[in-house]
Amino acid sequence: MNFKPIFTKPGDSMWQEDKPDIEVHSSTQFVYNAHNSLALDMQRKRLPIYKNKSHIIYLLEKFQTLVLVGETGSGKSTQLPQYLIEAGWGSDGKIIGITEPRRVAATSLANRVADERNCILGTEVGYSIRFDDCTDPTTKIKYMTEGILLRELMGDPLLTRYAVIVLDEVHERTLLTDIIMGLLKKVIKKRKSLKVIVSSATVEATQLRDFFNLNTTKDLTKDTSTIMSVEGRQYPINIYYVKDPVPDYVKAAVDTALKIHENEEEGDILVFLTGLDEVDRAVSLLYDHSKLIKEGKQKLMPLAMYGSLPNSEQLKVFWKAPKDTRKIVVATNIAETSITIPNIIYVVDCGFVKLPWFEADAQSNSLIICPISKASADQRAGRAGRVRSGKVYRLYTEEAYNDLTTATPPEMQRSDLSVAILQLKALGIDNVLRFNFPSSPPSKNLITGLELLYALGAIDGDGDLTTHLGVTMAELPLEPVFAKMLISSGEMGCSEEITTILAMLQVQNVFIRPAGGQAAIKARIAHRKFEVEEGDLITYLNVYTAYEKYKTHSWCQSQFLNMKALKRATEIRTQMKRMMKKLNIPLLSCNGNLTVILRCITSGLFPKAAYLHYTGVYKSVRGNKDLYIHQNSCLYTLQQPQWILFSEILQTNKIYMRELTVIQPEWLLELAPHFYERTSI
Ligand code: CDP
Ligand code: MG
Repeated sequence: MNFKPIFTKPGDSMWQEDKPDIEVHSSTQFVYNAHNSLALDMQRKRLPIYKNKSHIIYLLEKFQTLVLVGETGSGKSTQLPQYLIEAGWGSDGKIIGITEPRRVAATSLANRVADERNCILGTEVGYSIRFDDCTDPTTKIKYMTEGILLRELMGDPLLTRYAVIVLDEVHERTLLTDIIMGLLKKVIKKRKSLKVIVSSATVEATQLRDFFNLNTTKDLTKDTSTIMSVEGRQYPINIYYVKDPVPDYVKAAVDTALKIHENEEEGDILVFLTGLDEVDRAVSLLYDHSKLIKEGKQKLMPLAMYGSLPNSEQLKVFWKAPKDTRKIVVATNIAETSITIPNIIYVVDCGFVKLPWFEADAQSNSLIICPISKASADQRAGRAGRVRSGKVYRLYTEEAYNDLTTATPPEMQRSDLSVAILQLKALGIDNVLRFNFPSSPPSKNLITGLELLYALGAIDGDGDLTTHLGVTMAELPLEPVFAKMLISSGEMGCSEEITTILAMLQVQNVFIRPAGGQAAIKARIAHRKFEVEEGDLITYLNVYTAYEKYKTHSWCQSQFLNMKALKRATEIRTQMKRMMKKLNIPLLSCNGNLTVILRCITSGLFPKAAYLHYTGVYKSVRGNKDLYIHQNSCLYTLQQPQWILFSEILQTNKIYMRELTVIQPEWLLELAPHFYERTSI
């Protein structure tokens, strides 16, 4: 069956909020401006990209695709679209579209560029994100999320409204970036007048150029894509390795930074670690040491840098250290591409990174600490030597470096692909196994994704979207397991309750948990009132129901609940209800009938089931992995239930399950007969 989409798609992929665990590893919404005091047009001229303006325009005349490389802050996102407009692109009524992986980037860039062009936001310069379209018929420069472009591709497959598409922040290689690149490649073959600029903050660009190159001959003059770099100057750097592997890289990083401080000439130090806990530990060790430095010697100023740090704290890493003081910035992966810290001469690299990873067997996404790639190691090293020659200390051996993989696998290769498959199917792409992705995902993950969608009833035996369930699931901006849960809730008569649970799952940190002392005990007592033996999802339902009743700030405070999170849950709930109305999912309450709610949860979350093994450890039903209950779960201190469903996995030294629901095993057989069958164990 050839499926023709006739519905509108939700713009952004998810209602998912920023999760503190996930967010620390790579990104920040914070923008530093070194030339804030200058007039806007002077600021524009100071940017590294400015000198390259005419060359960029020239290359775009000559090539259909341009891969533009330049470090963060060089002016790619704000200047590029303006250069295009100034060179006459878009004078024929067509517009310049720029996609961003994050919503805040789309809105804040549009704001900034509207300021620079002295126009009202939503006129010449506008943005479009899910539920918020701030453009008008005169808009020439449109910032949008990747999800919005995907939706537009459904209505206008050749993107005829656009003269140029700029794919921004491509180095992040999100799942959507890769899907869009795959689709754009189809578009540029058919529409030669469409220009594509791929903008990236890392030097790893040849693969992208080759992907977009439509020249099938050996004649290089016929190439349709090229690379251009707006990199600033790179001075030589010396790289040092450890002789033997280090047992504790946080401690080794601190020791190395201190050695540099004692023995090397002046210049700031940038230390790479993997997560905020490690960063905080290193900063506190350095701080203890800094107090011991004798009068008259050069002082030391340790600073932390990670995504969830308040902006005022993030700002400090950009300031010049006071006289006779050396700055040591200890950062997560964020300092690799998301921000550029000026004046770094020394880099200390622990060699690891925290990455979300999908395990096809256990159907679980987890956050794991893994060795970086060569590309990452080189990118980190390049952070030294921007102002004069620098030194890089790698806390791993040279052999270990040689053994690293060439590049970090894009999200596409390490994530749950069921959402991606659902979106592609809705776009009419039937054979996802043959789709031309910039980096093909492991076929195992594609097959697992297809299997999951089949088990959820979203696709049929031929791999086509099912007319009711599949089509509706593709429209909901929720993970397929949750989308299925929501649709079932309409049929099972408990959608009031399920929307609450789903909204609460999107916002995290509902419970405020003070670190210690009296407050911690008080919070524990307050939270216990909401907790039930059926697990965290029903506990969330209790919390929200109580919140609906009292709703005051003082009540939230007394219950140690995060009012901002609860308010956000209300907003998400409202959006979800609006969507349900459009999709004809009835809004019904089961009046607190727990069995109905639990069965409904099972109808969606069944792939994430675990049982208590006689050894006292939980095992995933599929994949047979050892799993543990996370300490934040309300089931942590209760008697261990025999069968549970988890919503999320967190992997540190062990694999922890979060957001749990207690179920009866026969529900699995009853509600997911394709997925589970009874065996003797
Ligand atoms: O995209 P890229 O990282 O290359 O740079 P950009 O986002 O175009 O930003 C260039 C410069 O514009 C930044 O270094 C800031 O000085 C300034 N800017 C700003 O002040 N406020 C924004 N929201 C965005 C950029
Ligand atoms: Mg940018």
